[in-house]
This record gives sequence, C-alpha cells and structure tokens, in this order.
Amino acid sequence: MARLMVIAGGSWQCPIVKTAKEMGHYVVCTNLYEDSPAFKFADASVVINVLDKEGNLKVAEEYKPDAVLTEQTDIAVPTVAYVAEQCGLKGIGSDVAGRFTNKFRMREYASSAGIPMPKYRLCHSVDEAADFLSDMETCIIKPIDSQSSRGIHIVKTRDEIAEYFDDCVQYSNADRAILIEEFIDGTEFTVDGVKTGSEYVVTAISQKDHYEYNPSVANRLVFTHHNDRYDYDSLRSENTRLIAAMGLPFGLTHTEYKYRDGKFYLIETAARGGGTKISSDITKLVSGIDCNRLYLNMLTGGSEEIIRGSKHDCAVLGFFDFKPGTITDIKGVEEALKQPGVHDIKLEVKVGDTLMQAQDDRSRCGYYILFADSLKELCDRERRLKETVKVITK
Ligand SMILES: Nc1ncnc2c1ncn2[C@@H]1O[C@H](COP(=O)(O)OP(=O)(O)O)[C@@H](O)[C@H]1O
Ligand SMILES: [Mg+2]
Repeated sequence: MARLMVIAGGSWQCPIVKTAKEMGHYVVCTNLYEDSPAFKFADASVVINVLDKEGNLKVAEEYKPDAVLTEQTDIAVPTVAYVAEQCGLKGIGSDVAGRFTNKFRMREYASSAGIPMPKYRLCHSVDEAADFLSDMETCIIKPIDSQSSRGIHIVKTRDEIAEYFDDCVQYSNADRAILIEEFIDGTEFTVDGVKTGSEYVVTAISQKDHYEYNPSVANRLVFTHHNDRYDYDSLRSENTRLIAAMGLPFGLTHTEYKYRDGKFYLIETAARGGGTKISSDITKLVSGIDCNRLYLNMLTGGSEEIIRGSKHDCAVLGFFDFKPGTITDIKGVEEALKQPGVHDIKLEVKVGDTLMQAQDDRSRCGYYILFADSLKELCDRERRLKETVKVITK
C-alpha cells in the first residue's frame, strides 16, 4: 500500500481514485469544492484550489504521500509537478509540465521536431494579432494556458480580434498574451497513449463528429485501429515522435489533431488521460491495456510492464442529443445497459429539467460508451441503443 495525493476531484477524477482504492492505496484528494465528487471515494480530502501550488505543497507536507498525481485536468499538471519536485517524489518536472500546458511553448517544442501545425504567433496586443491575420482568411485566438475552449474565438477581421481580445486574454495565466493561429478546417482526431520509462504506446485513436447545429462541440468519437480514409499508422508514428520531442518521462497522454490536405496538424497535446472515461475505460476496451493501473504502478514503484489483455476492434463515445424542451419522461436506460456491447450510459438530466442544445462540451446532457468487433456491429448497437433510450420533452 502507498499513500497517494490526488490533485483535482471532479467527476472525471473518480475513476483514478476508485482504481487507487481497489489497488489498496490510501488516497488524499484536494479540490476547490467541499462537495467534490471524487472526495467520497478518497480516505481524506482537503478543500483547496488545484492551482494553488504552495497550498497543495502544505497538504503534501502534512499527509506525506509516497506519490502525487492527477489524471484528468491540465490545470493540475503544473501543481502536481511542483509538489513532486519539492517533496522529492517521482514527477514529470515543472519544465515538462509547462511545455504541456502553455500552448505557445507546446508549439515551439513540437515545431522544432517537425510536427505539422498551424502557423501561430504569440501576441500581446490587438495590433500584433491583426498583423498576423492580414496574411490569412480565418484565424483562431486562444488563451496561452487555459482549457475547455474558454476564451477561444474564430476571427476573420481586425474588428473581431478587437472585440474578443479581452475575453481571450483574461484566461491566460502565465503572461498577458494570447495565441493567434491559422484556422485548420478539417476532420478532428484524438490520440491517447501511455509512456513508461522504456516505451510509448498509442492506446486509442478516435475520429470526431460534431453536432450539426454547433460544429465546435463533439457529439461522437469513433475509436478504431484502422481507418479507410486516414492513415492511422502515420498518425501513430507522428504522435510517438511528438511525445518523444516533448520529453515526457512517463504518464498518460491525450493529443488532438486536425487533418487537412494529407497532413495531421497538431492542435494540442496534454500530459494526462482523455476525458469522459477515455483513459479509464475506452483505451482499455480497444487496446487491452489498463492505463490507469499502469500509471499508478509507475508512480508507486510497481511493475511498468505493459500487459495487453483482450481488446475490441472498435468503440464509440457518443453524446445524446434529445429534442429541446422540458423533460416529462426518461425511459430505457436499464434495458439498454443489458444490450450487448453497451459499456456505460450516463444521463445528466432528470424529469422536470429543461433541455437545450449543447453550447459547449460541458452542456452536453449525457453520454454512452459502446464496443463491438466490427464497425457495422458498432453502428447496429448504437442504433438499437438510441431506439431504446428515450428522453421525452414537451
Ligand atoms: N488552429 C486551429 N484550427 C482549427 N481549429 C482549432 C485550432 N485550434 C483549436 N481549434 C479548435 O478549438 C478547440 C479548442 O482548442 P484547444 O487548443 O484544444 O484549447 P482547449 O485547451 O481550450 O481545449 C479544439 O478542440 C479545436 O476543435
Ligand atoms: Mg483542447
């Protein structure tokens, strides 16, 4: 048994805390809110902002953990690295943590390794950004170190940059600056992987679909080993080169790409697992590797051997899309959970709630995870699940 300090305690951190407990470890979890979902699975909890490095260090000094970690949130990655450094524990180091969370540094590192990426510039003013835009039709502005699409805007004119600059820069922490990038119009992909001391393995690749009414919110990620239209072998090797260039010593990775004109362009890469149970459940379904256990083993001096169990050909992470209105009835969840290939269903709404169309990743009303051994079987299972789960609105 080891003593673990888990920084961040939202819903998506529950799986890593539960796995740590199943493995027999003691867990102290820190997060900003008293009713943080992961607290109820931990042995102890401390209410503190995950961004507060010194505060989290004090917690570590009190609890004396053998390892400190986070699994699902970028903003905790630099705090974990700092606490580990100060306490002499295994970690990725503050410099590497900065590379993975500061989007400008990420671009500088990855471009030096020859990874295709959009043209970009670090800007401290509207004028600088407008100068960059003058060579291009469409750009995107983003804070240098935020997450969950906060402060991100597509811009086509100087006026639009002026309109959104302040909203964007308010989410930048490291510097009063923003990143402006060429807008890549193309299909999106996610690539998850795990790095041990000796090797890096890509565990899952997905192609993303988006809601028709809101193309910036994903409604479906289809995980397969091969894709008839896109060369996944080259994507795997590009991602492996990227992670080597970033210098990650160990841990989980989640990277986003967009494909245009024969190239996979890097959007961003993170030193953590993919959200909505990608790293805890989906990577295991399609690769046979239990990434979270392996990650905990790496932190606690256990075996780093990559053990591959049985795996499936494909999986889908889908987000429900019901007719907007007030919910009068919810049917079929229990029944659908018994259908073959249904791994998980979660509806985050109840009778009486008002449903709206998804505005961002957080306003989606629920998800499902399915697996199968052919794409046809996956689509059949998905159709059956959608016929079974009904949310009636008026
Ligand atoms: N250069 C770009 N071209 C096209 N789309 C982009 C670009 N950069 C970001 N996006 C889109 O915006 C989303 C959020 O941007 P990202 O850099 O991943 O920030 P965040 O950390 O907030 O997730 C991406 O998932 C992608 O859909
Ligand atoms: Mg992103």
